[in-house]
Amino acid sequence: MLIGAAALKEITKPMNRVLHGIERGMIHSQYVDIKIIQKYSGLNEQKTEYWLQKAHKLDLIRRWTGHFVGYELTINGYDALALNALYEKGKIRSIGMEKGTGKESVVYYVLDAQDRESLLKFHRVGYTSFQHVRKKRRYTSTKNHMSPLYASRLSAEAEYKWLKKAAEHKLPVPRTFAQNRHIIMMEDIKGYDLNLVSTIDDPEFVYEQVLDFIKRSWDAGFIHGDLSEFNIIINDDAEITVIDFPQAEKTNHPNADELLERDILNTTNYFKRKFKIHSDVKAIKERIMGGKEMYY
Ligand SMILES: Nc1ncnc2c1ncn2[C@@H]1O[C@H](COP(=O)(O)OP(=O)(O)OP(=O)(O)O)[C@@H](O)[C@H]1O
Ligand SMILES: [Mg+2]
Repeated sequence: MLIGAAALKEITKPMNRVLHGIERGMIHSQYVDIKIIQKYSGLNEQKTEYWLQKAHKLDLIRRWTGHFVGYELTINGYDALALNALYEKGKIRSIGMEKGTGKESVVYYVLDAQDRESLLKFHRVGYTSFQHVRKKRRYTSTKNHMSPLYASRLSAEAEYKWLKKAAEHKLPVPRTFAQNRHIIMMEDIKGYDLNLVSTIDDPEFVYEQVLDFIKRSWDAGFIHGDLSEFNIIINDDAEITVIDFPQAEKTNHPNADELLERDILNTTNYFKRKFKIHSDVKAIKERIMGGKEMYY
């Protein structure tokens, strides 16, 4: 994919204006009339046509012919807009290799203006066939025809907000550096995804950290909502960092109870299955919700 990364170099100012014009037009309709693009971009007809053609060749936009000719941004075009914005703000300098692909995201290495390495997480909501994942997301289930670009942006905004909140409460999460549209720039946590780790010297120590994370999140007013061994990174000192926050919810959410229970269940099941650590989910949940001290 990442034509968007190449686009950092390829995308000139007028091209960016045309893409931005389409983005603005897409607030009102899926396909945007050339006249509207022209108006928003401030370019004349000929230049607009020229840059539209270029963008089309680079697969940054999609053309639709109906009772008028219209354009919409592709995910590559959206990548290009967001990357350019981060670049213009001096947040990033160059993009590196892909680090990994999740169900609803792709993660890349990136260098900031001081050549320090961090990560970009590109949210990709609505591009896979994981219908069940989409269903649990509030914003995609209430609005039936939301564009995947918009859904991806909401997902990134939510994740950024919760990561910052978690960091304010000194929870073990990646530091965030920037967010634009559907992209989050954050710290690269050194370690291994817990689901890929075959042995741990002191699993109780890890287990306690996870329960402590759930409890302290609850005390801070939120629930992770997708906690499991797939979203926990463990380092060489067996310290955990929790990632992947777009679906977090406030503790006063109507389903808070259920979400908390599921997070506890997912993690306790993992420790039971893998390390034979048995726990009483109901008792843990009651202690967390009752604001009582945890015992492990
Ligand atoms: N801050 C980070 N530091 C190190 N690795 C990370 C970080 N963020 C994400 N990753 C890696 O990228 C993968 C995908 O990220 P994440 O879990 O946030 O996205 P996702 O698309 O929601 O994944 P999934 O839905 O498959 O759980 C992670 O499993 C992890 O390997
Ligand atoms: Mg994940």
